[in-house]
Amino acid sequence: MPIISDMTPPIIKAAAIALKEGHLVAFPTETVYGLGANAVDKKAVARIYQVKGRPKDHPLIVHISSIELLYKWARDIPEYAIELAKQYWPGAMTLVLPRTGLAKDFITGTQDTVAVRVPSHPLANKLLKEFEALGGFGVAAPSANRFGKVSATTARSVKEELEKYLTNNDQILDGGSSQIGIESTIIDCTKDLPVILRPGYITSEMVESFLSLNITEFDLTSNKIMAPGLLDAHYSPNAQVLLNGVPQPGDGFIALANIPTPIGTVRLASPKDNNEYARELYNALRLADNKGIKIVQVIPPMEQGVGVAIKNRLIKAAFIK
Ligand code: TXA
Ligand code: MG
Repeated sequence: MPIISDMTPPIIKAAAIALKEGHLVAFPTETVYGLGANAVDKKAVARIYQVKGRPKDHPLIVHISSIELLYKWARDIPEYAIELAKQYWPGAMTLVLPRTGLAKDFITGTQDTVAVRVPSHPLANKLLKEFEALGGFGVAAPSANRFGKVSATTARSVKEELEKYLTNNDQILDGGSSQIGIESTIIDCTKDLPVILRPGYITSEMVESFLSLNITEFDLTSNKIMAPGLLDAHYSPNAQVLLNGVPQPGDGFIALANIPTPIGTVRLASPKDNNEYARELYNALRLADNKGIKIVQVIPPMEQGVGVAIKNRLIKAAFIK
């Protein structure tokens, strides 16, 4: 399956048509690549689960081009959710809200809530607009990786991981490397106050200061599953990830650039700050597997800003099943 890189308007339109006809289109977003399907097409959505190897009760995020379409998918939207949407959309934030009849069980994993996001990547936005112009309401898109594995931040990674499960009618669109590099912040907006279910680039501090209130963050170290998908083990390469361990020669090594490479280890990433850390992390974990490395030693960044989300992903990547 070729990666489509030359993103002219006719090519984007053809991708929107493929979605409308029930095919899958992997597309870039600013967070990670998504594996898209028409969110009202039961058969197309079933293929997402099959291609990802994902359990059926794990709900999907519906992607739309603007806040206007939110009202098609969600009801009883609290004022704070509308404020958040106006402030952070398009962007790396997903809102969980009570669902309308449009959000069927096959999208929500039978829950009465639906997750919605307006991505900011220009190609994602154009694709969604074209799809909506064809009468589409939204594109369901999980991260474009096999279930439990590392999310893809380039079209090449999507191809390497999913090509054998895709057909010739499906497409992989290339929009370069994802700028943020880790998945969106998920905020539960079904209660009086917002609750962060998955930390991301939009931090709890940003949300708190914007809304001028204290919010709850899902306890990252707890073993409870508050929403399907918030599993202990996730984002895992084949290599074993170890945090703050004692690196041995031959191990892979990931740390901020100011931390020297331990003797004999294979440096997989040297990000200069937390934003670069987020952007490079998944590629570095994939690189470990491509190099046949068995153990990756990671020094997590300080838990500031997006560092909280990075630590969250690393704990899950390091979880021993
Ligand atoms: O950045 C992102 O969010 C990427 C890009 C492609 O948009 N998407 C993504 O999707 O990370 P996925 O399916 O890999 O992760 C979505 C998470 C899952 O853990 C799922 O359980 C949770 O969102 N989720 C979806 N709907 C939910 C709902 N109604 N209530 C609670 N959690 C939900
Ligand atoms: Mg995912």
